[in-house]
Amino acid sequence: MCGIIGYCGNGKTIEILKNGLKRLEYRGYDSAGISFFENGVLKTIKKAGSVDNLFLSIKNVKSHIGIGHTRWATHGKPTDENSHPHLSFDGKVAVVHNGIIENYLSIKKNFLSNVHFKSETDTEVISNLIEFFCLKGYGKLESLQKSVKLMKGSFAIAVVFADDDSRIYFAKNLSPLLIGIGKTENFLSSDILGFANKTKKYVLLDDYDYGYISKQNVSIFDKFDAPKVPNIQTMQGEIANASKNGYAHFMLKEINEVKTAVKNTALQYANDISPIEKLADINKKGRFFLIACGTSFHSCLVGEKYFQKNGTDATALLASEFIYSAPPIDKNCICIFVSQSGETADTLSAVKIAKQFGATTIGITNVKTSQLTRICDYFLPICSGPEIAVASTKAYNSQVALLNILANFVKYGNACLKKNIGQITTIADKIDIENFDEQIKPLVKEVLTASNIFVCGKDFDYVASLESALKLKEISYLNAQGIASGEFKHGTIALVDDKTLIFAFLTQPKIASKTLNIVKQTKARGAKIVAITSIDENFGDFDFVVHLPKASEDLIPIIAVTPMQLLAYRVAVTLGHNPDKPRNLAKSVTVE
Ligand code: M6R
Repeated sequence: MCGIIGYCGNGKTIEILKNGLKRLEYRGYDSAGISFFENGVLKTIKKAGSVDNLFLSIKNVKSHIGIGHTRWATHGKPTDENSHPHLSFDGKVAVVHNGIIENYLSIKKNFLSNVHFKSETDTEVISNLIEFFCLKGYGKLESLQKSVKLMKGSFAIAVVFADDDSRIYFAKNLSPLLIGIGKTENFLSSDILGFANKTKKYVLLDDYDYGYISKQNVSIFDKFDAPKVPNIQTMQGEIANASKNGYAHFMLKEINEVKTAVKNTALQYANDISPIEKLADINKKGRFFLIACGTSFHSCLVGEKYFQKNGTDATALLASEFIYSAPPIDKNCICIFVSQSGETADTLSAVKIAKQFGATTIGITNVKTSQLTRICDYFLPICSGPEIAVASTKAYNSQVALLNILANFVKYGNACLKKNIGQITTIADKIDIENFDEQIKPLVKEVLTASNIFVCGKDFDYVASLESALKLKEISYLNAQGIASGEFKHGTIALVDDKTLIFAFLTQPKIASKTLNIVKQTKARGAKIVAITSIDENFGDFDFVVHLPKASEDLIPIIAVTPMQLLAYRVAVTLGHNPDKPRNLAKSVTVE
């Protein structure tokens, strides 16, 4: 939820920290700060607000080493004081931190009772705890190691010491942290994007790894304090190209990439079937669970229908609920975890629980370097390319496409794979964003003037409604409710009046007439109706119609929400909101 960057080398440190933080800002944008050495002196500058705001006051600084942070507030408001880096009481240790130290109060009580804390954060205990051990005479690495062993919770930390301008120390548990390897420079970041424009070589750190980087060296120790040989990997070219490419916002760019994302996702399994073939060994007669959060949960709801319609026992569950109330799970169960980022804390916790029950675990994610790929038994990539806007768009479409392939593979094996991939690329080719845009533009005004907004449908269309409403909520800050059309009459219709706007998804000819009933009932009470439909005949009395391409009812969910993704974007922009960085949100939710 926050971003960490660290750099040591001969490059322009301040520029590298700034660019790194800009690339990480989608992970949190309440406040930002850096610590760096200038003429051998450790300096810290931090401010509430954006990364650009921070760097307004930092000019012409020569430095060869520094750490930086962009924050999504968990403990304490986004103020200058609560921004990272956090210094020890004597200013000798500076720390940036992602995650939450759950036992920070007991650490304060047991080790730091004499320290006067300046911020409301849990992070300030880390710098003080490290300094506590330093003052007891331990070396820097040992002080870090001792502190890490006391800390409970999730953390990725980068640490610099005022009397050592050659090293950045680090440690991690549950929160991601990577080292970028350069020729005479090294990087540290919570996200490969942090240094992807500088080096393609990286090392993924494991939980409880700790150590340090310097200009020339990387030293890593594992949780048993044994030195590790860094496993250097090379990133894909596409990761480095996470730019807006001329679009006004990442979200708009990413909606325009839905077609390619879906096609790339499907076609990679045509090119290399091995990730799916590995699943030949799983017990396909077992019970399937699809587990995720937010938008990824909605793709699981579509997946659940794909599995169930094929006669496979499947249930979609929210990861945040699964952690505390998992249904009976045993070794015959297959738990599929879906996450764009692969770093969502609730989803990762759910994987651990499923493993404890002995279930087979499959991770589906867009980020190959994420934790999800490493902790699941099997990994199936989606290939959407980097998704930077906080609101997930192209990743959703791609997840749905992959779940379609997976549900069919579980039922039919390899036999239908090629045909299935062909069908998905055909439906993806029918996406015409310009055409969708023309159709939804008149709806912006309707959304802005409505006092109540509902999005409804049945079956697959119900899931499209949930996802569409979430998109509207998160970036336009307007309350929209996704509802199963059959549920209106059980209470919600009491809210309908002549200021109500209802979007009705109608993509399944056999059940569309049932949603039409509610269209009639709500229209009779003054509501305006927008049909989003792939059915051609002129079958209802609507105020507006958004036409989707024609496709079979199992394939249309792959693209059905895209006009609503675009509408949410247009509404947010009209309201003057930044759709890439909606308030209170962050791209990957790495805290429970
Ligand atoms: O990275 P994940 O797919 O695990 O993220 C899950 C949710 O946090 C995410 O989908 C969230 O709901 C998005 N902001 C939706 O646009």
